[in-house]
Amino acid sequence: MTDRPSGNVADVPPGGPLCLAGRIRIEAGGEQIDDTDDVALCRCGHSANKPYCDGTHNEVGFDDPGVIQGGRLVPGADEPAEDDPVVIVCATDGPLLVRGPLTVVAADGTTVSGTKGALCRCGISTTKPFCDGSHRDSGFSAR
Ligand code: FES
Repeated sequence: MTDRPSGNVADVPPGGPLCLAGRIRIEAGGEQIDDTDDVALCRCGHSANKPYCDGTHNEVGFDDPGVIQGGRLVPGADEPAEDDPVVIVCATDGPLLVRGPLTVVAADGTTVSGTKGALCRCGISTTKPFCDGSHRDSGFSAR
């Protein structure tokens, strides 16, 4: 059995949301909108309650295997402390920006760790769970 990573973790279940656990802060529109230890954020692009998942992925048949198809997180300038929070910044009409320590755990157990990156929330990136810029041409709209 694989050891669960410590710190802030984002699980990527097939066809489902981004499931974050740890010290999670969420910002949108330049304001902090949440400070939590457990939250599911939409990555299918269809939730009526973005950035949160509202279960619509089941209705739209969001088809994603939950594996790392491309992209990555990169180290920040400073080494994070083990208990630092991760701030998820909801870019207007764009991805979820990672600012702080996070380990992404794919459905096949592959992990990617870092402190900076962009996670897809429009549902059409070809490098899910990371953003490839596809939202720009898709008309994706979210605060
Ligand atoms: S991932 Fe659940 S509503 Fe989009």
